[in-house]
Amino acid sequence: MIDLHCHILPGLDDGSPDLATSLAMARIALDDGIETIVATPHCSVDAGPAPAQIRTAVQQLQIALADHGLSLTVLPGAEVQADPNLAETVRDGQIMTIADQGNYLLLEPPFIGIPNYLEQLCFELQIIGITPILAHPERAEIAQRQPEVYTRLVEHGCLIQINASSLRGEYGGTIRRIAADLIHKQLAHIIASDGHNATSRPPVLSKVRRAVVQAGDEHAFAKMTELVPNHILNSSGGKRG
Ligand SMILES: [Fe+2]
Repeated sequence: MIDLHCHILPGLDDGSPDLATSLAMARIALDDGIETIVATPHCSVDAGPAPAQIRTAVQQLQIALADHGLSLTVLPGAEVQADPNLAETVRDGQIMTIADQGNYLLLEPPFIGIPNYLEQLCFELQIIGITPILAHPERAEIAQRQPEVYTRLVEHGCLIQINASSLRGEYGGTIRRIAADLIHKQLAHIIASDGHNATSRPPVLSKVRRAVVQAGDEHAFAKMTELVPNHILNSSGGKRG
């Protein structure tokens, strides 16, 4: 499996605090059947690690993983806060995209409030050749108050990433139901861990296999943890059709 959203890089955000935790997270991921993790530290237009810093941190972690005999592939990425000026910052090369390929961006909508610029922002990103992947939108207020926004964004080519922890009910029953409903309506494309550590928020996907299959169909889990993420990572320079 591929985990497209995980805070495994040490010391860059509220995820892994140190190398020992990152290595523990890597072991948990491998035990779960995850072979590739996209490291997605929190970033915004004016805060968070720059692309060069993320590249260096990924290289350093890859070396440490090899030293410890852990055959996990870690790729650069970022979880980027939505902002009306984001497209310009991305165009200027100041924001890390998924796998540093410049064609997919993990975009975090705000938890609170309904930003009136969100659809315009997604459109602006698409204009510069970037497909937004909405990070855990089931947890955002929009999901409860204006779910039709997500339908429109998906119709216009955006992708949706659901947290495995949402489907496990870790943010409550309402968010669990919204996550399942997005899968049922075929509006969700990716399941990721959003792992932050090796204890309370570990990088684990397999535990929601049954929930995903129940909400979708028998192929849904493989599609959302392997097929679609694999397509994203192997689409260098191209756009998703
Ligand atoms: Fe995250």
